[in-house]
Amino acid sequence: MATEINFLGHASFQINTGDHTILIDPFLTDNPAASANADDIHADFILISHGHFDHVGDVAAIANRTKATIVGCFEITEWFEKNHGVENAIGMNLGGGVDLPFGRTKITPAVHSSQLPDGSYGGIAGGLLVTFADGNVYFAGDTALFLDMQLIGRAGLELAVLPIGDHFTMGPDDAIEAVKMLQPKRVLPFHYNTWPPIEQDVDAWAEKVRAETDAEPVVLAPGGSLSL
Ligand code: NI
Ligand code: MN
Repeated sequence: MATEINFLGHASFQINTGDHTILIDPFLTDNPAASANADDIHADFILISHGHFDHVGDVAAIANRTKATIVGCFEITEWFEKNHGVENAIGMNLGGGVDLPFGRTKITPAVHSSQLPDGSYGGIAGGLLVTFADGNVYFAGDTALFLDMQLIGRAGLELAVLPIGDHFTMGPDDAIEAVKMLQPKRVLPFHYNTWPPIEQDVDAWAEKVRAETDAEPVVLAPGGSLSL
């Protein structure tokens, strides 16, 4: 089957490859935009971009219930092992990749902070470049615009998943600049409209993507999905 990416609201995604289920940044319980429940969602792997609460909120509960393997920067995976009893973890750092059963997963740089919910040091915020059987997907994570996105785009991207909310991350205009550097076939916006400070007109942004770049915008409401 084609790899399916399901938007769970805010910055959370569930990916189904047919053989594996992967969660990215699960934050459902206190997420006003969540389209799924942390108590019954399945995962084989949980990928984590950085330590902020709106990205790790349900990591421990889901990992401990499903025995999923968590993957992220070393400081974050170690914190979950020591403080939350998570049993299966792969700690990495920026620029490094690992070959996982569903594809190679590399942590890319991001320009953002990464404190964990209890104030612990969470290392440095990252993004995720995942090579699925159907192509490369770049999950930018929370980040400012940065010129090295040009290098990430050289991998050849089927899809770029970019924050557009402004205030805590890139806003809509910087996300357009990111699309121009990354040159993905399709671009999916996230990290907007969850709370008032990050409200955006996503349809206006999608129009601008069509007008100014070669990428096709894919706007998903929470619960919506796309196939690679
Ligand atoms: Ni953040
Ligand atoms: Mn965030």
